Amino acid sequence: MREFPKGFLFGAASAAYQVEGSIDAEGKGPSIWDDFCSRPGKVKRGESGATACDSYRRPREDVEACAAIGLGAYRFSISWPRVQPAGRGAVNEAGLDYYDRLVDALLERGVEPWPTVFHWDLPLALQRDIGGFRDRRIVGLLGDYAEILARRLGDRVRNWFSVNEPFEFAAFGHLLGAHAPGLRSPAAFFAAMHHMLLGHAEAAGRIRSLVPGARVGPALSWTPVHPARDSARDRAAAGRAEAFMNRITFDPLLLGRYPEAVARARPWRPPVREGDLEAIRGSADFVGLNYYSRERARANFLVPLVGADISGKEPRDIPGDETRTAMGWEVYPEGLSEILGALRADYGNPPVYVTENGAAYADEPGPDGRIDDRPRIAYVEAHLGRALREIAAGSDLRGWFYWSLVDNFEWAEGMAKKFGLYALEPGSLRRVPKASAFWYGRVAREGALHEAAAREGEAAGRAGTATAEAAGGAA
Ligand code: FCB
Repeated sequence: MREFPKGFLFGAASAAYQVEGSIDAEGKGPSIWDDFCSRPGKVKRGESGATACDSYRRPREDVEACAAIGLGAYRFSISWPRVQPAGRGAVNEAGLDYYDRLVDALLERGVEPWPTVFHWDLPLALQRDIGGFRDRRIVGLLGDYAEILARRLGDRVRNWFSVNEPFEFAAFGHLLGAHAPGLRSPAAFFAAMHHMLLGHAEAAGRIRSLVPGARVGPALSWTPVHPARDSARDRAAAGRAEAFMNRITFDPLLLGRYPEAVARARPWRPPVREGDLEAIRGSADFVGLNYYSRERARANFLVPLVGADISGKEPRDIPGDETRTAMGWEVYPEGLSEILGALRADYGNPPVYVTENGAAYADEPGPDGRIDDRPRIAYVEAHLGRALREIAAGSDLRGWFYWSLVDNFEWAEGMAKKFGLYALEPGSLRRVPKASAFWYGRVAREGALHEAAAREGEAAGRAGTATAEAAGGAA
């Protein structure tokens, strides 16, 4: 039996646009993702988050899914255009009420709410009127929005995530054109990156000033990049990729500077003004870490900025290959040790929560309709095992959120990539626990990882029943 420290938090995560649906209900304004999904060819099969998990109309089912298996916390995000339809000014009370009820429902069931203020669904009006995150005014507006949330929820919510994955939002949305708002501009990439970090610092300051004892941190991705070949050129390429993809957020936040390769990039670089780096440095009470996989870099001087082809995390289907998930991402638990080791060695060992870790698999139901998702259990077990090891080595890791609670809308990949502990029953959209839900729930309740837990997951997968309530019964 391998025990986690007392008080270690086990939860699951989601994001508003990926689960809520009801995209124009009760006064909600359009977001950049509503717009992006309506453009032909942007999302696989033309799907969108218009229905997703229907969480806006059935929040209690998500709460029950957490509570039934004994999770201590739920990371969900708040939709900015639901709360402020135009992104500034008027507040939509119905939208705010929804999060109010969600928070109450979670607390009633003993599940701590850990909201994310901004997880990519920017009000479309802000994109159209000011250029979204390209424009520095977004920083103050994000702060105003965070203040509205703090005033309404701060009496019950102590722990907050400010922004989700500044790098992915900037890179996929502003450089590669693969996510909303669909831009392809290096200048927009650097501006969005920098303003996300400043926006985090602004939101954190406003929340702390209104909520005594509040703790706020961003959720940052770190994808280790290794050289594709054992050559000096590929090693250098991997180093550049690490700087542009990972250290580009961790360095400003924890060291108060951009990595040299980023700060010296020509002709584009982050639009840093006097005082910015001081504002960003030390603005987090903890770091949220999103970790999934690693990538490889192959030197290529034709590629702007990083001078490398980076591969290993593009979605691609490799049926039957157990070393890759349905996203095509390599299963690489060692990466977690690399990252937590770097946080100890280079960044002063900050308090960390893993804010996302999880895997998509095909999840074929058995003849009895049950999903015995052993590859997912193996994935999580291997990563939690790494977590225990790094805690023993001195990492200040305090909690873990599995991505995701329920199968949901996976951005440009649409609904087909399934990360959930729970499946969505077609038609009824009921949350149906997979074997991994039983397994993870037991780990959460016992605060320990042991072989018996793995066996229980398998047994539960075979004997499991079809609803979240039943998951509670089995627990
Ligand atoms: C992360 C996102 C999250 C989810 C996972 C699979 O980059 O933060 O919303 O889509 O990937």
